[in-house]
Amino acid sequence: MEQWWKKGVVYQIYTRSFKDSNNDGVGDLNGIISCLDYLKFLGVDILWLTPIYESPNDDNGYDISDYRKVINEFGTIEDFLELLNEAHSRGIKIVMDIVFNHTSDEHRWFIESKSSKDNPYRDYYIWKEPKDGHEPNNWTSCFQGSAWEYDENTKEYYLHLFSKKQPDLNWQNPKVRQEAFDIMNYWANLGVDGFRLDVINLISKDESKYYIDSDIKGHKVCANGPNIHEYLQEMNQQVLYRKSLMTVGETPSVSVDDAKRFAPLDGSELSMIFQFEMMNVDGAEDNKWTDRRFKLLDLKRIMTNWQVGLYNKSWNSLFWSNHDQPRCVSRFGDTSTPFYHEKSAKMLGICLHMMQGTPYIYQGEELGMTNAPFESLEDYRDIDSLNSYKQLVEVEKSVAHEDMLRYLRKSSRDNARTPMQWDNSEYAGFSKKQPWIMINPNYKYINAKIELSNTNSIFYTYKKLIQLRKEYNIITDGYYELFMEDDPNIYAYKRINKEQELIVYCNFTSYLLEYDSSYIHEDASILISNYEDQLLGKLRAYESVVFIQKNRKTS
Ligand code: GLC
Ligand code: CA
Repeated sequence: MEQWWKKGVVYQIYTRSFKDSNNDGVGDLNGIISCLDYLKFLGVDILWLTPIYESPNDDNGYDISDYRKVINEFGTIEDFLELLNEAHSRGIKIVMDIVFNHTSDEHRWFIESKSSKDNPYRDYYIWKEPKDGHEPNNWTSCFQGSAWEYDENTKEYYLHLFSKKQPDLNWQNPKVRQEAFDIMNYWANLGVDGFRLDVINLISKDESKYYIDSDIKGHKVCANGPNIHEYLQEMNQQVLYRKSLMTVGETPSVSVDDAKRFAPLDGSELSMIFQFEMMNVDGAEDNKWTDRRFKLLDLKRIMTNWQVGLYNKSWNSLFWSNHDQPRCVSRFGDTSTPFYHEKSAKMLGICLHMMQGTPYIYQGEELGMTNAPFESLEDYRDIDSLNSYKQLVEVEKSVAHEDMLRYLRKSSRDNARTPMQWDNSEYAGFSKKQPWIMINPNYKYINAKIELSNTNSIFYTYKKLIQLRKEYNIITDGYYELFMEDDPNIYAYKRINKEQELIVYCNFTSYLLEYDSSYIHEDASILISNYEDQLLGKLRAYESVVFIQKNRKTS
């Protein structure tokens, strides 16, 4: 089976915030169609669309109420088919986001399921009897509060690892699995090229744990459950294999060894997974509501472990951000001056895109979009942010109001969800109406129009990175080797194949630093850099430079 995604670059679109074609303040499918030439010019090969299905939007579409319908505010199925067609005619593939760990509580299956204990859909979800008049166990949901919700009518609890409007599906029921595969085939038959599978490693629950308390959150207990590989192999056989579809499984709490099983090179399960180990570098034991800043040594250790661990065994996905994470230039770079902003945004792009795997660019990352200066709680829309505030500040009273506002500004998912900044007109060229969430006021000087008009911009660095991946096989096939491993400020690594070597240096600080240049031969040339000239052996603020040279050992 051809593994076309190994040479591809993915661009993630958060439809609600990408481009609004009918000026109702919400991004939509026709908006995406109108930007396809922009995406083609950037050079990306694959678009990942976050969920576009009918949904009451408790969690912005990750609570699906009809898997075969496009949500009205985004358009119609005809708009979707046109998008698919227009993308394909430009050589761009489309990957759909699909959520099968849970549905919306407004999905027809759930409405049936909760109507009575003997309803044929009862067993589509996970219903449990109370234990001593309480929840079966103490699991908390990802979005705060108990992971169990009591139903007065049938006197049982249902499980929801996310919000109570997102009941978990029971994958032990073969009918549920068949429904999921049928839905995937429905979209595959319409011509989509792959799927991003939301929290897919949570779908297999361990029966024996439902009445046992735990000191970790429910979703951690349920990660990588007993039948997960059986289910994914079944999905592979029923949907994926013959169509050569790309799949990326979102899998929190996985190790390198787990990844090898989820995405083996023989194609028997998924094409690749998203792991989140490096997303924990600035959280305190999985609590993202802190002031902590990451340490480069941690990042290097984790990324190296994945680069080395999956080489020739599986395939990495490469990302700095997505719709659940803050903006990467604010988090791992430096936005304190326009100069540092530009240099560090480019440096991050270079650092990631020279690694092995499939890179994912989150919308606006190619412009250097930053976290938003949210001022009050009313500015937030995200259920995770709002529920966390309520829980920590009002219920537990463990965090003060001002502290929580600061943590939210640093880590809220809404940082990634403010509208795409197209130009400096009112509402940033995203819409002609006040959008559903605030626009980052820095759109006046950070926007696509300015970036496109200057060939030295962050946008053009990303464009070049995408081109390089197509031109140089070493970026896809070379093995990875970390050096200067104990340096806390410079990320330096090599990529090596039979013919060539890449030597990558990235300064993660604003200081002038020296690096070990003994690896660079006379025949070396510069593949890409974020400065116009070079000081051999020195790196200026957020400087990044990549040398390419012959591999002397083998050539
Ligand atoms: C995934 C999604 C996130 C969503 C959650 C529940 O983590 O990326 O946005 O809230 O699953 O579906
Ligand atoms: Ca719209």
